[in-house]
Amino acid sequence: MSDTAPTPALAFTSRMGNLLKLRDRLLVSRRFQEWAAACPLTRPIARRRARALFDLCAGFVYSQVLSACVRLGVFQALAQGPLSVQQVAQRVGLTVDAAERLLISATSLKLVSRRGADGYGLGELGAAVLANPGVVAMVEHHTILYRDLADPVALLRGETRATGLGAYWSYARSDQPADLQDTQVAEYTHLMAASQSMIANEILASYPLGKHRCLLDVAGGDGSFLVAAASRAPRLELCLFDLPPVAALAEQRFARQGLQQRARAVGGDLYRDALPGGADVISLVRVIHDHDDAAAQAILRSVKQALPKGGVVVLAEPMSESRGAEAISDAYFGFYLMAMGQGRLRTPATLAQMLRDAGFQRVKRWKTRMPMLVSVLTARVPG
Ligand SMILES: C[S@@+](CC[C@H](N)C(=O)[O-])C[C@H]1O[C@@H](n2cnc3c(N)ncnc32)[C@H](O)[C@@H]1O
Repeated sequence: MSDTAPTPALAFTSRMGNLLKLRDRLLVSRRFQEWAAACPLTRPIARRRARALFDLCAGFVYSQVLSACVRLGVFQALAQGPLSVQQVAQRVGLTVDAAERLLISATSLKLVSRRGADGYGLGELGAAVLANPGVVAMVEHHTILYRDLADPVALLRGETRATGLGAYWSYARSDQPADLQDTQVAEYTHLMAASQSMIANEILASYPLGKHRCLLDVAGGDGSFLVAAASRAPRLELCLFDLPPVAALAEQRFARQGLQQRARAVGGDLYRDALPGGADVISLVRVIHDHDDAAAQAILRSVKQALPKGGVVVLAEPMSESRGAEAISDAYFGFYLMAMGQGRLRTPATLAQMLRDAGFQRVKRWKTRMPMLVSVLTARVPG
């Protein structure tokens, strides 16, 4: 083989590239599209593609139908059994016409379902929303996100000075996060707590914490994850670190749960303060994705310093390129974090490398049932 001959792998990539170019040229050709829609063999594919494209165009409207159902309490109204349009209208304070329009829309999205000639009951997705207070909280919270995304190009170009999500997540871009007041952290802490039970169940089912002695949950919010861990691992000592007003909320939570003997909360700033020592396992739940690369790497180094030899870090958050949920991990979280003003989702491979760069070894990925919500990596301090 001469020096300039391409390697077999390069030749393959280049052939694939040419094929994809040809495919792209065909797909944008109006004549090809008309032929594909008419030909019985390609018609189902053309239809599926048209449907997927329309869903992309209409996605915002679907979200608004869901938002209207949640804000008006449609699912609660239907929870006791089917109601007529008139009854729904009366319960949620709409005219009969408006209620009917909403119910028909929501039926098409499986949020409600038809029962008999004039009745409506919960649909399979509406029932799932009702069963998950975290989803209800997220739907309500999304009004801020949609406002921020009204001009996505301005956001991408960095022309949007202040965003609603930037203000909501008050620590994002704050120079002195430790000085934040209770009123600036209460709302997001409540939102995180509402969705934490789904996340905690996934993490605790995938990684057994019971074999450890003391767990430190870094940036642990109001302590919901530690409370869930406490019930699974009755001998585990618990410690939480978060901004001072958030740690105060966690202290109150531990007291309410009768966990004062086992759990304590320490207030401080991740960027400036050393983490409390004494734990043999440290969890970072939905934390690293909130931070840009340099800050995220510094947090991992600080976690490593707080652990003894053989200590374990559990990194749990939604990760990029999550198979089957790419749109959620890469489009939804990608734009959400951009509107928030910092952070990004990373692939498991990138996070594994960051853990190794921070001095950890033996990085392991644990299976979770819902990778779109959370994936889990662990790594050990050498020794
Ligand atoms: C997305 S929330 C995750 C909370 C919790 N781990 C959970 O999954 O529900 C991020 C947490 O990081 C905390 N945080 C952000 N910046 C911090 C900092 N500089 N020092 C300490 N905690 C910080 C926030 O107060 C918040 O509780």
